[in-house]
Amino acid sequence: MKALVALILLVQLPIHTAVPAAPPGPLGCDDPESEEAAEVAVSYINGRSHHGYKFALNRIENIRVIPEGLNSDIIFLELDLLETTCHILSPTPLENCTVRSFAEHAVEGDCDVKLLRVGRKFSMLASKCHSHADSSEDILQVCPDCPLLTSLNNTEVLTTVTAALNDHNSKTADAYLRLLEIGRAKIQYHPAHIVYVEFAVAATNCSAKEAKDNVEACQLLPDDQSNYGFCTATIATTQDKSQDLRVDCQLYGHQVPTPDSPFLSRPGVTYSQSVQDTPAGMVPSVVQGFTNHNLRFSHNNPFASESSSSEFPTAVLSAKSVAKRAVAEVAQHDKVPRPVGFLPPPPPPCPGKIRHFRI
Ligand SMILES: *[C@@H]1O[C@H](CO)[C@@H](O)[C@H](O)[C@H]1NC(C)=O
Ligand SMILES: *[C@@H]1O[C@H](CO)[C@@H](O)[C@H](O)[C@H]1NC(C)=O
Ligand SMILES: *[C@@H]1O[C@H](CO)[C@@H](O)[C@H](O)[C@H]1NC(C)=O
Repeated sequence: MKALVALILLVQLPIHTAVPAAPPGPLGCDDPESEEAAEVAVSYINGRSHHGYKFALNRIENIRVIPEGLNSDIIFLELDLLETTCHILSPTPLENCTVRSFAEHAVEGDCDVKLLRVGRKFSMLASKCHSHADSSEDILQVCPDCPLLTSLNNTEVLTTVTAALNDHNSKTADAYLRLLEIGRAKIQYHPAHIVYVEFAVAATNCSAKEAKDNVEACQLLPDDQSNYGFCTATIATTQDKSQDLRVDCQLYGHQVPTPDSPFLSRPGVTYSQSVQDTPAGMVPSVVQGFTNHNLRFSHNNPFASESSSSEFPTAVLSAKSVAKRAVAEVAQHDKVPRPVGFLPPPPPPCPGKIRHFRI
């Protein structure tokens, strides 16, 4: 081992003296400035999502900086995100939101974003994302009995949501709750049959008791009083067919919108596309047959990706070609033959580090 280290040092020494001082290199994916830009982008993405959950940064996949003027740049970022347990209506700041584990059936988001940087200030220009659940095979490999995500319009899921909301409303002394959207649903088949659901709700102007008399008259509270919440529920069916229902609903309380989340004051959680009435309430047609709310529906600006801005040359060489060129330059410089494959590659500028896990 010592000999190897010594050998590496020996090989490295002449290289360091031979390479001429490079101009300030391209921004790497793990540079603090790149992370700052990614943070602005993730906050923007969550603030402008209308459905599903907040996403957290897993990795900066790539970054391109295109100088625009003396003090400003256009920055293109490719980001890998992971779904958290915080619904987009939750007031919990993203830093406090838990990223769902791999075994919980992770959902990954891929985003291209375009920002303007003037001095040290970033502003978002465009975002384009899509999100998808990890493949069932991947989960089953590490956890054969884990419940898997199922379609949001699955009949058992709708039945469970209806039963859970009815159960909550029949017991609460507080406001009568209405369903806004089903967030995710999982079904486990072995060793027991269990349906897990999560859904967003909103308080109406009725107490649960008033709703019993005339549920049609119960309206969602107006914007200046809106009160959203979130429920988790499970139904376990035992072998003798008896069912065990557990429901937990929390209201977030009225929230004042902020620049980061301008949509909070609106019941914007219903899709504008055609909506199908179900026993559980509304299931937007765009999620029918899908297991997750796709970020694509809130972030679909084609100008967010560099490839759509063909006037820009590819400004940054890939790490590989930079390393290759360095080797070539060194080889040119001192014609001493050296063992092939012994040059330790510089840490590649991109992709950056993985913050949670690879999927
Ligand atoms: C977020 O986490 C920090 C540190 O754990 C804690 O001090 C803070 O109260 C939390 N905020 C919320 C809104 O949960
Ligand atoms: C709720 O609002 C609707 C529409 O404004 C109204 O007709 C109804 O009486 C209200 N219900 C209660 C219990 O205040
Ligand atoms: C869910 O939606 C898909 C796509 O529209 C449809 O093919 C499927 O039959 C639906 N499932 C149920 C249970 O309604």
